Amino acid sequence: MPETESSVILCVDDEPNNLALLGALLATEGYGVLKAGNGMEALEQLGTQRVDLVLLDVMMPVMDGFEVCRKIKDDERLRHIPVVFITALNEKEDRIEGIKAGAEEFLLKPFDHAEVLARVKMLLKVKALNERLKSAYDSIIDINSYGEQTIKTFDKMNFNLQRKVADIVSRIMHRKEGASDRPRNVIVRMLNEKGKHEWYRYAYTFGQIEKAGIDLDISMNISEQDESSTFFCNGLDVVRRFGPLSKILEESLNMRAENMVYYLSEPLCVFGVNYGRDVTPYDAAVLNSLVMHTLFLRSLASDIKEIEDAFEYTVHALARAAEANDEDTGNHIVRVGHYCAIIAKILELDEEFIDKIRLQAQMHDVGKIHVHPDILKKPGKLTDDEWKEMRKHPAYGTKILGEHRRLSMAKIIAFTHHERWDGSGYPQGLKGESIPIEGRIISIADQYDALRNARVYKPAFDHDTSYRIITEGDGRSVPSHFDPQILKAFTNNAAMFEEVYERLKG
Ligand code: C2E
Ligand code: SIN
Ligand code: SIN
Ligand code: FE
Repeated sequence: MPETESSVILCVDDEPNNLALLGALLATEGYGVLKAGNGMEALEQLGTQRVDLVLLDVMMPVMDGFEVCRKIKDDERLRHIPVVFITALNEKEDRIEGIKAGAEEFLLKPFDHAEVLARVKMLLKVKALNERLKSAYDSIIDINSYGEQTIKTFDKMNFNLQRKVADIVSRIMHRKEGASDRPRNVIVRMLNEKGKHEWYRYAYTFGQIEKAGIDLDISMNISEQDESSTFFCNGLDVVRRFGPLSKILEESLNMRAENMVYYLSEPLCVFGVNYGRDVTPYDAAVLNSLVMHTLFLRSLASDIKEIEDAFEYTVHALARAAEANDEDTGNHIVRVGHYCAIIAKILELDEEFIDKIRLQAQMHDVGKIHVHPDILKKPGKLTDDEWKEMRKHPAYGTKILGEHRRLSMAKIIAFTHHERWDGSGYPQGLKGESIPIEGRIISIADQYDALRNARVYKPAFDHDTSYRIITEGDGRSVPSHFDPQILKAFTNNAAMFEEVYERLKG
């Protein structure tokens, strides 16, 4: 099997002649050769250099071959390296001892050249296959954990393709200790928001992945009909398939592409370049799985976002429809949502609650749809009968909102926004904490905004007057109407209410 980097063989013998002979034999076959004159030296080399196979003499000063072999096989990082004893010993006990030490093979001195080469070749092949298996296994584990992690952290409202691609790249490039079988470069082409293609290069150097924008102008024919979008190629095939790209990589990035695994689609192309070995369908499958996973989540996120936008739009449209018969209250419903969000934030309610109340508070008055316009638009005080009808709007609201789970907060808000802390509110006359927190929050938000605006039955008040009416009372409103901690949230942060009003008035 063609290897991109030649295998390195460590020869260990206390006989300089033997070492020289072995070294020359292996070097002429194209192997890299390291030499050690005793066991200690051998271990030192193993600790600092890449070694693919060890040829080991048994009888040596300082540390004998059995001991070296045991140390190799006891070491997590070295144990995969095949060990071949080359020895004059041919006693049964010695063989047994060697097997116990974990050696893969025995060769007798004086060694036969052809036999040494044949054994070495075979063992290296087995080792390469083992590593490939291990790497495939690691990849499966990796894909699994990537899938698990992306699903756990999937943020449907803020999906960021750039960040996900960076994730994929670091998955592909990250090297397990000592491994050199990951791409040294990853080139990415991504469609940006403006519909333009952007190119990036990720380079692996000294354990770090560095990203840089690159200026490539290559058009690629991407046929979406292709059954598979992932490919791989080695050696001359790279140039045959990707002449322009590999030429540009060579010219502008000073990079010769020896092999490549790539995924092609209109929104995203990913090229893994120069794995430390020939690439295989495995590598293509790994890349394919990572990219497909990400593109699937991206399309899911964009669908969810669209549905979410439509939901918000519909909520707002329904809330507006309820205002049609009312006087012109401008942005009243939107501002009320913001005040509620401010209070919820001060009360340290969770993010989800804050977003929900900001939106759903807009529906507090939908029930007014069923109140006659003559009542809503009456310039003066309401008669008792008119008040009786007016006070039904919370119940009308709950009827309109019905039973859907997504609108359950809106329903609570519609029904309880006129309850008062001291029990003097309507429709139920609930008291204290028996009023849902949403109702207690919107009560102050709604009233602040109603005070700031002109109504047919009242003039507009400025911020300070409105603040005074809420905190000191005006005969109609008294501070005991409000939950004390929410009243405090309002008084301590009244400037934020004023800011929202000023920003969103009109
Ligand atoms: P709205 O005009 O949106 O007012 C909402 C709430 O803000 C009122 O709930 C009340 O708590 C507060 N609010 C509004 N203006 C004042 C004010 O000048 N002083 C004080 N202290 N609070 C004020 P409320 O009282 O339950 O009224 C509910 C709805 O009934 C009002 O919504 C409005 O649509 C209608 N409404 C209330 N009073 C009158 C009125 O005198 N004439 C007419 N035509 N409609 C009224
Ligand atoms: C919010 O809505 O969360 C804050 C209120 C604002 O400043 O608009
Ligand atoms: C009303 O209920 O008519 C006044 C506005 C509000 O309820 O918040
Ligand atoms: Fe109301």
